Amino acid sequence: MYESIRIAPSILAADLLHLRDEVELALKCGADELHVDVMDGHFVPNLSNGPDVVKALRRGFPDAWLDVHLMLSEPERYLETFAKAGSSSLTVHAEAVRSPDTLMKIRELGIQPGISLKPATPVSALKPFLPLAERVLIMTVEPGFGGQKLMRSCAEKALELRKLGFGGHIACDGGVTFENAPELAALGIDTLVMGTAFFRAENPQAVADMVHAL
Ligand code: DX5
Ligand code: ZN
Repeated sequence: MYESIRIAPSILAADLLHLRDEVELALKCGADELHVDVMDGHFVPNLSNGPDVVKALRRGFPDAWLDVHLMLSEPERYLETFAKAGSSSLTVHAEAVRSPDTLMKIRELGIQPGISLKPATPVSALKPFLPLAERVLIMTVEPGFGGQKLMRSCAEKALELRKLGFGGHIACDGGVTFENAPELAALGIDTLVMGTAFFRAENPQAVADMVHAL
């Protein structure tokens, strides 16, 4: 469906003291997009990356694709803010959005809409969103923290999504490693979000090359 599997380094695992260098490294390695986690301490039990981080990334990296993963209880309140900050795509959670109209709103802001689901949420819950979504982000860990172990049963939701005829990007997020990347690609996942496995790797270039060769 896609020419090669795409890698989306998650800056949650980057060394924040050297964020510019970390992003430069990711782009030099061929990162297809950057994954920016936004957490509100309510939808998930952690806090991260407000709109100013997106703004700074956009200023420093005008051509980078910034996929902003909104782990917020009320994403509707912040869509415009994150659009203005320079997001390329905005991914919201099915458990948090008020209705599929939220994806329409994202589209009207000129941003690519994405929908995400937590491990306990079945693919059937996405049905009303799929006609409006250009990407689905399957959570393969409980959202909130990096460095957890991937739940393979969650990744298998990709098979169901493809069976439903979803033709957009399917990404998976959480616990993706050098070792499990090939089996994820075999499930029809075309974008691998990698935090720890990319930024904490001894050789991030080798990780990106391996993903692109899948
Ligand atoms: C977790 C975040 C992920 C996180 C993944 O809630 O949504 O994007 O950065 O980190 P790793 O790849 O370390 O599991
Ligand atoms: Zn994420």
